[in-house]
Amino acid sequence: MRLAGRETPARGRKGLTIEPKNAWTVKFFLEKEAREVSTDRIGPAEQDAANPAQQMGRLRFGVSVVEVLTVRRVSVEFTARSSWWTRGGAKPAAVCAVREVSFSVAAGEALGLVGESGSGKTTTARAILMLVRPTAGEILFLGRNLCQLPAGEIRELRSRMGIVFQDLNGALNPRLRIGAIVEEPLVVQRHLARKDRRRRVATLLEEVGLDRALADRFPGELSGGQRQRASIARAISTDPALLLADEPVSCLDCSVQAQIINLLKTLREQRGMAMLFISHNLAVVRHLCDRVAVMYRGEIVEQGGCADILVSPKNDYTKRLLAAAMATDRGVLE
Ligand SMILES: Nc1ncnc2c1ncn2[C@@H]1O[C@H](COP(=O)(O)OP(=O)(O)OP(=O)(O)O)[C@@H](O)[C@H]1O
Ligand SMILES: [Mg+2]
Repeated sequence: MRLAGRETPARGRKGLTIEPKNAWTVKFFLEKEAREVSTDRIGPAEQDAANPAQQMGRLRFGVSVVEVLTVRRVSVEFTARSSWWTRGGAKPAAVCAVREVSFSVAAGEALGLVGESGSGKTTTARAILMLVRPTAGEILFLGRNLCQLPAGEIRELRSRMGIVFQDLNGALNPRLRIGAIVEEPLVVQRHLARKDRRRRVATLLEEVGLDRALADRFPGELSGGQRQRASIARAISTDPALLLADEPVSCLDCSVQAQIINLLKTLREQRGMAMLFISHNLAVVRHLCDRVAVMYRGEIVEQGGCADILVSPKNDYTKRLLAAAMATDRGVLE
């Protein structure tokens, strides 16, 4: 398991450094490790070496030992449906959208997930959110295996994940005002009184670069860039440990893309969130992410530091993807 570029102590079967037998004890220690700011496990030198966003994330979310997100050999299959279109022909085969995918994201770290259309990026994100059930593997979020939790606990943990989608129109309810949209996750979470929620919404809007007066507008009365900023404000409203951003800038023009990317970068650094950033745009991934995982036909074919993978890729598919993307990506951010 990685930690600030160093190896953490060897772990047992359950991912713990100790090996308790009792199921309750295992659960207790996993939760304890996820909560504690265990500076005892990280020497001062290692702390200094870590990037500031990762340090911030450890302090805020207490996840110095366990990564925020660990995806282990996760597969997702969709069962085929028979319909008028397929009747008379061969029975359609089940679609294996994601096949034995493994990666992890530490606090304050951004992992880019890239790959061609249909390679399984969104399905991977949906599996992390438990919107589709993985057919195999495990997803550990803050040390808890989401695949084994009851629906109530999944909902609670999901409130610690922020989501920003590509589809600007579908993501924001057109009948709600921006203030109510940003406030919604806080209402569900029930931690704050109404007055405090309103104050928080105003602060969030300013944090993402929107005038607080826009809280009274409907999504249709905002520009694309403003809508995506509102969407980001809602995603970070519950102070998530993990931000899942699925093609958050692909609907925007180049100048607005750069602003949104820089906003995400700043928020990640200030808040120490872990980030899974899905994109076709390799220039954007290089600018924003520490590491990158390349998906092809449902599998991760290569992953590592952006500097390695996006400069000297080893895998043939990554080389092709990079060559194809170079020409169009150049000039977006510089
Ligand atoms: N609900 C579903 N039922 C059946 N197949 C699905 C379903 N959702 C996705 N798929 C299939 O899974 C594969 C991966 O889809 P996914 O949306 O994850 O791709 P993607 O990498 O996000 O593509 P894009 O870059 O175009 O968004 C595709 O072949 C898609 O048709
Ligand atoms: Mg997608």
